[in-house]
Amino acid sequence: MKRIIVTGGCGFIGSNFIRLFLEQEPNLQIVNVDCLTYAGNLENLKDLESDSRLSFARVDITDPESLQNLFLEPVDSVIHFAAESHVDRSILDSGPFIRTNVLGTQILLDLAKKASVRKFVHVSTDEVYGSLGANGFFTETTPLAPTSPYSASKASSDMLVKSYCHTFGFPGVITRCSNNYGPYQFPEKIIPLFISNILEDIQVPVYGDGLQIRDWIHVTDHCSGVYAAWKSGVAGEVYNFGGRCELTNLELTTTLLNLMDKPKSLIKFVQDRPGHDRRYAIDCAKAEAGLGWKPVISFQKGIADTIRWYQENREWVARVKSGAYREYYQQQYGSRL
Ligand code: NAD
Ligand code: DAU
Repeated sequence: MKRIIVTGGCGFIGSNFIRLFLEQEPNLQIVNVDCLTYAGNLENLKDLESDSRLSFARVDITDPESLQNLFLEPVDSVIHFAAESHVDRSILDSGPFIRTNVLGTQILLDLAKKASVRKFVHVSTDEVYGSLGANGFFTETTPLAPTSPYSASKASSDMLVKSYCHTFGFPGVITRCSNNYGPYQFPEKIIPLFISNILEDIQVPVYGDGLQIRDWIHVTDHCSGVYAAWKSGVAGEVYNFGGRCELTNLELTTTLLNLMDKPKSLIKFVQDRPGHDRRYAIDCAKAEAGLGWKPVISFQKGIADTIRWYQENREWVARVKSGAYREYYQQQYGSRL
């Protein structure tokens, strides 16, 4: 049985990916490598805990000694999700972002190279391209121009993967996706934060004028893209994924309030995010043509399902919002709200 290492499988996208991957590929062995930061949660894979094809290794990818043990047995491929992923946290403290996203990726790349893996899918982000004006789209050839410590760390890791492909003929494939939403997303990102606040009639903090634009994609569509990149992505290539669903943050917030039958008075305009990117929008023609992929979940259906998931999983939300979360929330929003 092929053995695949998936890093960051206890996070939002990684856990959704593992579920999709095991459905698509019944004869695979997955080793989920995750150090369980605040964003990692074994509960996200609870429904798969008796599946013998999935094993878990609590390992920090910045720790080469522990990580190398996982490469003692043959590894077919690596699918690399593990990262510090929240822009606001990178503004508060960039250290963990450089450690995990840059150093961790380099350590993983070296081990994967030594193990001669067949494929290495590096899951990156559209934020490496910087910010768009009112028109145009990011394509795979848009120059990298990251603006936040988070996106700078992701761009650095992309460059490392590219350099390994170029220098060593390493079988790396890079994916860059726009903003995801769906079940199991940590309530620090706008959609789960706002839904969980609205459920408790707590005000939602809209940064600046709320006219920044994001291109929303359901997490399952992103995961099917990563799967397609693993299956048929060409080594050395980059593939963009997006949902063709541009919304201003204010449009998004109003949609959530309307669907949840709550008043607009819950909106609170707060101080803007420093260096806030204005607009992201993805051209995913290359992935459509080259991988036979396309997003299939409409925002209308995806967001209704997501609201329902958070309504039905209030205990999950309460658990992940306990402990250190309160400290973060206070630090992030205390002086703004
Ligand atoms: P997340 O924060 O929900 O999950 C990250 C996971 O990585 C967690 O389980 C965490 O415990 C683990 N992790 C962090 N540091 C680690 C380390 N040093 N060693 C081992 N495990 C570690 O993130 P997400 O939103 O699921 O994002 C996953 C990937 O997708 C990231 O690489 C992110 O940059 C990328 N991405 C995210 C989005 C989005 O909208 N969320 C969009 C495009 C790309
Ligand atoms: O584009 C892909 C990226 O999308 C991923 O690489 C990142 O991992 C992911 O976190 C996400 O980054 P964003 O910064 O775009 O997502 P976030 O949910 O933090 O913010 C979305 C927009 O909402 C952004 O314009 C900032 C705004 N916002 C966010 C929060 C948390 C608010 O107005 N208020 C908030 O409280």
